[in-house]
Amino acid sequence: MGGASRVLNPALRGKIMSAGEAASLIPSGANVGMSGFTGAGYPKEVPTELAKRIMDANLHGRKFKIGVWTGASTAPELDGALAMVDGVEMRLPYQSDPTCRKRINAGEMEYIDIHLSHVAQFVWFGFLGKLDVAVVEVSGILEDGRLIPSSSIGNNKTWLEQADQIILEVNSWQNPLLEGMHDIYYGTGLPPNRQPIPLVRTGDRIGEAYFKIDPNKVIAVVETNSPDRNSAFSAPDQNSRKIAGHILEFLEHEVKKGRLPKDLLPLQSGVGNIANAVLAGLNDGPFENLSAYTEVLQDGMLEMIKSGKLCQASATAFSLSPSALSDLNADLARFKDSIILRPQEISNHPEVIRRLGVIAMNGMIEADIYGNVNSTHVMGSQIMNGIGGSGDFARNAYISIFMTPSQARNGQISCIVPMVSHVDHTEHDVQIMVTEQGLADLRGLSPKQRAKVVIENCAHPNFKPLLMDYHKRSLNLSPGKQTPHLLDEALSWHQNYLRQGAM
Ligand code: COA
Repeated sequence: MGGASRVLNPALRGKIMSAGEAASLIPSGANVGMSGFTGAGYPKEVPTELAKRIMDANLHGRKFKIGVWTGASTAPELDGALAMVDGVEMRLPYQSDPTCRKRINAGEMEYIDIHLSHVAQFVWFGFLGKLDVAVVEVSGILEDGRLIPSSSIGNNKTWLEQADQIILEVNSWQNPLLEGMHDIYYGTGLPPNRQPIPLVRTGDRIGEAYFKIDPNKVIAVVETNSPDRNSAFSAPDQNSRKIAGHILEFLEHEVKKGRLPKDLLPLQSGVGNIANAVLAGLNDGPFENLSAYTEVLQDGMLEMIKSGKLCQASATAFSLSPSALSDLNADLARFKDSIILRPQEISNHPEVIRRLGVIAMNGMIEADIYGNVNSTHVMGSQIMNGIGGSGDFARNAYISIFMTPSQARNGQISCIVPMVSHVDHTEHDVQIMVTEQGLADLRGLSPKQRAKVVIENCAHPNFKPLLMDYHKRSLNLSPGKQTPHLLDEALSWHQNYLRQGAM
């Protein structure tokens, strides 16, 4: 299908203009809701044109900044371009762009890290202020004006409904067969009149395949033909394979104990190489008829659908390598039976996650001996990416698993520490901790019992004796014996790293 033919609504066809013209309609100071989730379905041209305008304003001594709200991470053409020209006053929620990260950590960009399921409702509640403009990529516009969503849904439903004005990018690069894969739920409502979400199986469709919009709010339609940011995964390294092995063994054990059914429960898997290695392990493992209720559908899940191990996957976005993308496109009609894309407020909804009994598997930066987890901050103050959906899933999961290699930065850092330097997931939300060294099952254990298992099973041998020494001394010297700590020492490992480059 050619680009022009994807805008079938005559009124909206009358609003087609260049990306530069559309970008000129966004004023400085605006809060802009952009589509985009893990490099899928983000607007490809308007943000870049806006960045050029911002640079021009800066050259003429005029300050030009906007608020950028998205689904999650985007791409160099959006986060990268706007951060490069220092054009972002406030960014939310999750980001992973290196330039953006640098600006945030230098104090040049404000950043609010919000649970991904919270973003839409915070906007509806009015907690984040007014949304001025939505810039949303779609893969087509129907004759009656409804929109065919793109390769991610994220917060687009909310942006389209809440923004005063809408700019649409219609991307003819997106596979036209995406039509029908989406499930946009229009029943969320607001307290005190909210109703239960009628989703009881991962494959349930509870909404509509299209976005509905007020066409009068559309101020521009831009036709594009540009690829998503499809980054390749590196092959699983030895540590990732070991972590995957421990998790598989654990799941088999849970089935034997009767705590999990033979076809497990719906899987949630974070992004990244370890998560992909776990999925590869599951693909080679004994479990059949699996399902996924997750945030992003990555290579590993697509492989599992291809092999027949995974029967149904629900997500809010794709996050595929170029080769996985061509596999998807080669057989999209078949994959459509097994994949549903939903708004992130539904893919990450605590009510649904709790009802389905999701097995949550997420990466972390560090954990402490009592089971508190830091997913976001290096050495307590520097943001890496953000909490993403890990909190939505971990708090509400049937079993919540966190994983990391036991050491980072060539062994200079222990990922198991006496006290985490920042807390994203408290000890109450972490049941299983895994490193390449082993797995700690923290269910039913008191803090002192947890510390022993975490150190024994998860710490690297280079750091194990030091952790054990800390634990023993804190048992003796801490004034309280429930969660013993030596407060003047608890964060000294991080201080050592900052002062001398090693913990
Ligand atoms: N201290 C300091 N730095 C650490 C660290 C530690 N304890 N552990 C890891 N790092 C650094 C690594 O050195 C690496 O840095 P580099 O990119 O400069 O080399 C970086 O953190 C990423 O580490 P890596 O081992 O490659 O892990 P990853 O790609 O699996 O990412 C998280 C780990 C925690 C950053 C990632 O999972 C994340 O952002 N999680 C939060 C969001 C989330 O869970 N989303 C999924 C929910 S659906």
